[in-house]
Amino acid sequence: MTLNGIRNDSPKPSPNRCRTCAVVGNSGNLKRSHYGPLIDFHDIVIRINEGPTIGYERDVGNKTTHRVMFPVSATNLDNSTHFVMFPFKIRDLEWLIKTFSPSENATSGLKANKDLVMILSPAFMNYVHLKWLGRKGQYPSTGFLTLIFSIYMCDEVSVFGFGADSKGMWNHYFGEVLNLHPWTKTGNHPGSVEAAKIDELFKRKKINVYRGW
Ligand code: C5P
Repeated sequence: MTLNGIRNDSPKPSPNRCRTCAVVGNSGNLKRSHYGPLIDFHDIVIRINEGPTIGYERDVGNKTTHRVMFPVSATNLDNSTHFVMFPFKIRDLEWLIKTFSPSENATSGLKANKDLVMILSPAFMNYVHLKWLGRKGQYPSTGFLTLIFSIYMCDEVSVFGFGADSKGMWNHYFGEVLNLHPWTKTGNHPGSVEAAKIDELFKRKKINVYRGW
């Protein structure tokens, strides 16, 4: 590990790893971007929380191989989509067990293929917060965690839908500006530190960043 968490010893390309990956955040900069076909062209397309595709195909595509969600943002998935979770409290794990145990599944209401659930160690969030963000903010955003996760999973990572609006607010491509406290703008997450780190990764040619409009 070197230079503020940016690795010089990144894993080497391999046929067993994902070749190309699109990490799709929920930023309003995706509106009118026409990135849909480009996003769908990747082997792996990771979306986050409720980020919808239906009705937004032209700008965000319609392929989803992985979706990162928390209990509060969990939405139904089709049978071929991986449910990825970064648990960070006991309740998250209890929720997972309850949701996917055979006796409870029928009543939980959530549709997702239990054989495609991926759970990262809670230590991963701690690692990203400490090594990549210098413990700034309360904890990393789900999007930033997903981006770092994808660097480990994939040979080539392209990032879409990251970035605040002109007022520094984390707006969405679907619907209105997030209802955040005005003094935080990016919620509990260190938005500007994450943005600077993403820029740095881009400048060092570790990731591609598509900034939209
Ligand atoms: O808002 P939500 O958490 O669902 O968005 C998913 C991720 O996309 C965030 O965790 C953040 O990393 C990223 N995002 C962003 N800029 C925005 C909105 C979201 O970078 N305007």
